[in-house]
Amino acid sequence: MKIDDAEKFIPKEVYSLLKDKIEEFLPPQASAIKNGLFKGHNLLISAPTASGKTLIAEMAILNSVSANKKAIYIAPMRALISEKFEDFKREYPHIKSALSMGDYSENDSKLNSCDVLFASTEKIDSLLRQSNKYLVDVGCIIYDEIHLLTDVGRGPTLEFIISLNKRIFPHAQIVGLSATIGNAEDIADWLGADLIKSDFRPVNLIKKVYFEGELVNGKKEHINLVEDPLSDIMLYLIKNNKQALIFSQTKKSAIANAKLISKLIEPKLISRDRIALSEIANEVLNVLDRPTSQCEEVSQLIRSGVAFHHAGLINKQRHAIENGFRAGLIKYIVATPTLALGVNLPANTVVITSVYRYGNYGSEAVPKLEIEQMLGRAGRPKYDKEGMAIIIARNERDFALIEKKYIDGDIEPIVSKFNSESAIRTYTLALIDMGLYTNKQDIEAFFGTIFLSYFGIDISDKLEDAFDFLEEHEFIINENEKLSTTKTGKLINRLYLDPYTGVILISFITKTKGERGRVDPFSILHAVFCTEEFKFIPLSQSEFQKYEEESYGLKLYTDQNIVDYERFIAAIKMSHVISDWINEKSEKFIEEEYHVLPGEFYTILERLRWITYSMIELSRALGGKANEIGKLSTRIKYGIKEELLPLIAVPEIGRVRARKLFSVGIKTLAELKSTDVRRLSDLLGLKTAEKIYSYLHEKETENKLI
Ligand SMILES: Nc1ncnc2c1ncn2[C@@H]1O[C@H](COP(=O)(O)OP(=O)(O)OP(=O)(O)O)[C@@H](O)[C@H]1O
Ligand SMILES: [Mg+2]
Repeated sequence: MKIDDAEKFIPKEVYSLLKDKIEEFLPPQASAIKNGLFKGHNLLISAPTASGKTLIAEMAILNSVSANKKAIYIAPMRALISEKFEDFKREYPHIKSALSMGDYSENDSKLNSCDVLFASTEKIDSLLRQSNKYLVDVGCIIYDEIHLLTDVGRGPTLEFIISLNKRIFPHAQIVGLSATIGNAEDIADWLGADLIKSDFRPVNLIKKVYFEGELVNGKKEHINLVEDPLSDIMLYLIKNNKQALIFSQTKKSAIANAKLISKLIEPKLISRDRIALSEIANEVLNVLDRPTSQCEEVSQLIRSGVAFHHAGLINKQRHAIENGFRAGLIKYIVATPTLALGVNLPANTVVITSVYRYGNYGSEAVPKLEIEQMLGRAGRPKYDKEGMAIIIARNERDFALIEKKYIDGDIEPIVSKFNSESAIRTYTLALIDMGLYTNKQDIEAFFGTIFLSYFGIDISDKLEDAFDFLEEHEFIINENEKLSTTKTGKLINRLYLDPYTGVILISFITKTKGERGRVDPFSILHAVFCTEEFKFIPLSQSEFQKYEEESYGLKLYTDQNIVDYERFIAAIKMSHVISDWINEKSEKFIEEEYHVLPGEFYTILERLRWITYSMIELSRALGGKANEIGKLSTRIKYGIKEELLPLIAVPEIGRVRARKLFSVGIKTLAELKSTDVRRLSDLLGLKTAEKIYSYLHEKETENKLI
């Protein structure tokens, strides 16, 4: 449909924003428009990757904004939300949009005044629990990548907020988007939305299976036969000058594959590219105070035009790599599936190196849904006229499986993952605290509206257990059949904690509050790592023995009866990791000593800040050692010993500068203030010295004025 022909469907204000931007609507977009997108109808768009679903979301958002209502865009991955936010801001700078992804210390008041909010599922969940003062006048809600309802980790939160939003904002338009739903009719029915289903993909994506030197799709194309499948494919892509994204299932294999590719591409680089690549490589190398061996490894690879990309890299490195790829300098990225959702990158070709991964029952075939998302990164309209997707088969059995499941097979249906004790007790507490429901029947009725219940699954027993758990731990009270939260229950919910985490933290706080003197930071860390808010990483047998032995000599307060024993022991290792960090060991040391990669390490730090913040709040409420935990929290943030706490209060001073000052005898703010600017400048450079000086002086004037 040409834009002119769509004019009659589109409000004037929105039309004027679109008309210079779009010539013709793609079929799924035209369908959405004809089926009431601008009339506020709820729609579920089930259409292939790269079929222009984002523009449908964008139009719903613009429509909502033109009616003076707030629009919310919700997606599960941070990288994706940022990309959509940045694109929107660039396209529509006059519209007030905000990005919010879940830092507890974030200033949420800006969310009140924005017209469009781009947020993570978790952030919306958390905002809804803060008595919902930020989300008012909501006109439309976009759920991008809605198939993640079926994800064990993120699915339950998404399912809860969709159900809750339906209850709280019954008139807000719902737009769900996904390329990979096997049972779109079910999802649409559950959402109360009209289904827009399409097979249209603007860029043809040719899927091939690699097997024994040949690319097979109906016919066979002999490409080469050197020694291994990936080398064959890479030589073919290099020869045809195609940029590609290569997916590997694990971090380890992503690195190994990147190394293999670098040997093939390195000799072919031209000198201009070498220079540009070495700039990117240096940027990636120097993001930390001291480069770790991972930093060195990835930057070395980048020099030869290839990079690996996984959660072990820190965000800045990943961005630099993605930008290098967008600029066509980095020709190949070998990624784990974290890069599979929604992003637009100039990957003409996607290669899947393995369709297996280790699951609970050993090696298992990855769902088609996930493979389809990875393949869908190839051939994006912005960059290509045609895309290619190659799946590697290593033997006949693989070949048969790939053809049957991934080429000819259907995408799996989306099923609910809500049926977990953790989800049920967490959201039961949330519902009671919000005051939406005050009796068990109504809460049960609410759970009757979630996606799990759509399939007729009965959770009444688990719900009864959740009520018992919450009452037993005094998070809720039940007076004359009327439910309400206690002060602690309220706090647990507002802090966004699983009630079970609350029990572990409260037990620690209560046990230590009577202790005379200080509580060792190690034992605080141990309690924190015993909660299920941290991903459990099983120890090797020898590590387990080592830490178990150590545990006998430690003074720990975590109640062994309420924590899984393996987690209890593994928490000792993690407490060592963070203890070393707050004793000023580098990321490099942590990577070498514990095999915790910087990206993973920073994710842990971020979680730790949230949990320690929660602990401070709980300690204040329960008369525990809030000060001690507060100090630890700051030490974790900066990675410093306690003696640096006074200096770190100055904005320009981080762990390295604080240590430098301390080592020359400048240990307190008073000493810093009385230090001559020239001396400071010799130590920290002129600019920093000036900033510190003026900060301290402004502060002084401020204090005087007060
Ligand atoms: N009407 C249009 N005309 C031309 N190009 C378009 C049109 N609509 C969208 N595009 C382009 O097509 C690409 C589609 O990307 P989009 O992110 O919308 O895909 P998607 O359907 O969300 O896929 P995925 O399922 O992978 O997230 C974008 O680069 C966009 O600029
Ligand atoms: Mg998309």
